[in-house]
Amino acid sequence: MPSITDSAHENQSAPSMDWPFDIRPLTPNLGAQILGVDLAQGVDDALFAAIYQAFLRYQVLLFGKQDLPPAKQVEFARHFGEVQIHVMNQYHADGYPELYRLSNVGADGRPNGRYPDKGTLVWHTDGSWRPLTGQATIIYGEIIPESGGETHFCDMYGALHRLSPQWKQRIEGKRAVHNLDFSRTRRHGEEPMTEAQKRDTPPVDHPIVRTHPETGRKCLFLGDHAEHILGMPYDEGRAWIDELNALAVHPDLTYEHRWQPNELLVWDNRCVMHRATPYDPATQCRTIRRCTVLGGTPPN
Ligand SMILES: [Fe+2]
Repeated sequence: MPSITDSAHENQSAPSMDWPFDIRPLTPNLGAQILGVDLAQGVDDALFAAIYQAFLRYQVLLFGKQDLPPAKQVEFARHFGEVQIHVMNQYHADGYPELYRLSNVGADGRPNGRYPDKGTLVWHTDGSWRPLTGQATIIYGEIIPESGGETHFCDMYGALHRLSPQWKQRIEGKRAVHNLDFSRTRRHGEEPMTEAQKRDTPPVDHPIVRTHPETGRKCLFLGDHAEHILGMPYDEGRAWIDELNALAVHPDLTYEHRWQPNELLVWDNRCVMHRATPYDPATQCRTIRRCTVLGGTPPN
């Protein structure tokens, strides 16, 4: 079994690239804004290769002010890989089953007072409840509230790097069971999943320390869909997961995005957790559309 001693925390020492666009880091550690790229014009292979390198290096990418209709969002997402058709089909948007619209705006155009998915308010990684966990998530902000509704990201390479030696030893070789029904229904009181939706999403276990398949770096892989730990009493595993999820978030390894309308964010679920911040769903409107690209099954 490989040691979980992780590699040095590397982003700042990565070699500089000759990017074919302007790129501006959003924090000293993670996140970068790419400037001067109009995604609706399409992205050729050379440009996408550079975007993908930036995605691997910075973990979170921001594309400011894009006029990006749903078909173009799906087209851009397909450059990353196969796009997930989400099991929660009540959210499918505009006839595109690849898109998942989260909105509190009613048919009358007014806020309906309900969060569309309260689970997004808790740190998580998209698709960790599937055998093929999420790779990129690509979100377009259609309607942005005046306050709240931010998206925050924390660096899971850094989260592992900062764990104590005792914690690193404890979690070596351990696997967590991720379960959408647990996080969605039981923890957050959402409307219950249907039997068919549950059948499509049986619990799945993944290593707590995973190796990113492309960067080769080790990171912590937990979040709110993680329910318990294989081989441990349920309550003890729950306590570990809660503690590790809290230990993973460091202010200096976090990027907090305050949205402007029509921005696009892309992030790598294999090495960041994210959450939305609250807003008042009774007075403020928020509509985002998202798609998630299928990644691989975490090795080891
Ligand atoms: Fe999410």
